[in-house]
Amino acid sequence: MRIPVNTASHQYEVVIGNNILTSAIASLYEELPKADKTIVFTDKNVWEAQGNYFSENFPYPFEVLVMPAGEECKSFENFKEAHSFLIEQKCTRKSLLMAFGGGAVGDLSGFVAATYMRGIPFVQIPTTILAHDSAVGGKTAINHPQGKNLIGAFYQPEAVIYDIHFLGSLSEREIRSGMAEVIKHAMISNEIWLQELLTIPSITNISNEQLATYLKSGIEVKAKIVAEDETEQSVRKYLNFGHTYGHAIEAAAGYGGLAHGEAVVIGMIYALILSERYGKVTRTFTKTFLQFAYDNGYPLEAVSNYPFETLEAFLVKDKKVEYGELQFVLLHTIGEPFVQTIELSECREVDLEYRALLMEVCK
Ligand SMILES: NC(=O)c1ccc[n+]([C@@H]2O[C@H](COP(=O)([O-])OP(=O)(O)OC[C@H]3O[C@@H](n4cnc5c(N)ncnc54)[C@H](O)[C@@H]3O)[C@@H](O)[C@H]2O)c1
Ligand SMILES: [Zn+2]
Repeated sequence: MRIPVNTASHQYEVVIGNNILTSAIASLYEELPKADKTIVFTDKNVWEAQGNYFSENFPYPFEVLVMPAGEECKSFENFKEAHSFLIEQKCTRKSLLMAFGGGAVGDLSGFVAATYMRGIPFVQIPTTILAHDSAVGGKTAINHPQGKNLIGAFYQPEAVIYDIHFLGSLSEREIRSGMAEVIKHAMISNEIWLQELLTIPSITNISNEQLATYLKSGIEVKAKIVAEDETEQSVRKYLNFGHTYGHAIEAAAGYGGLAHGEAVVIGMIYALILSERYGKVTRTFTKTFLQFAYDNGYPLEAVSNYPFETLEAFLVKDKKVEYGELQFVLLHTIGEPFVQTIELSECREVDLEYRALLMEVCK
């Protein structure tokens, strides 16, 4: 399956399927100008779990840099290491960089590609469910000690090659986390699809075929939005549904404390409660979603570990704060997002309401 992504700055395709690495890379190399060198950036866990398959199926010679896993990969130190590696390997503007891993490897590699010699081509080879989101759309970043993703660039890949084979070694937690972004894509685009997702008996136990269709749908939602608004001036903000409160709780938990998608589900419930006030979302639906999240093992209890005062400090630091005002993506109804400014005092009120609802549903 191929999904075109047509952004203002660059056009490319997402190729998705099972065991497609060899054929997709081969056809990409036919299309691209000849690379003088292929470099693969990956992380320790990915390389341990999938390095053999990758080496056996990657049809060209390459040099590999194995980096620390998780958010550590997106540190200033690792950013420097990665550049040093490219310099040592005598990479030029004609070299091609492969980002082989989850969102962390993808974000770091994309930013390295954007900055090495003012920009070299790179390809995303995502290995997590979450990366169906992060690998598409060209947001690249590293973290600053004072905040996540604060340093980065919009820089689109030459292609995204999504071999479902790689998802076979994901932990249950990473599957759960990645499915949160699939659910987000359904929430902001399509009620029927969302209802289908909510009837899945176990979100961590989906067949490969089914998963591939969900990932394709998610990528289509993202591709459509970034085609319209590459640099988040308007509709791209919708992709932040669940991410304002979600980022605050993710930061409060310390990066790595909660998986990104776990925090996003927590944030989506908060956004639903706000959507009851500003849109037509019903309390019944919010409760149904909360119950679904609870039944599927999303760690909602984390909310009670952090008083609102702790979250507040992170909320006001969010990148979505514009002219000092907090911006939330809310839903008129499922599939119809909009952006709403919310006062901090109302955030506190809704936070209290959330905690009460959690006590009611998660007995
Ligand atoms: N650029 C964007 O648009 C965007 C969007 C969403 C999230 N993000 C970023 O993505 C990151 C989260 O991405 P993620 O959830 O993929 O996290 P990740 O890249 O940290 O991967 C999660 C963990 O799973 C391991 N892993 C990855 N693939 C594996 C596989 N196939 N088998 C076994 N283990 C594997 C990793 O080593 C890591 O320990 C965050 O840094 C977030 O900021 C970026
Ligand atoms: Zn996200």
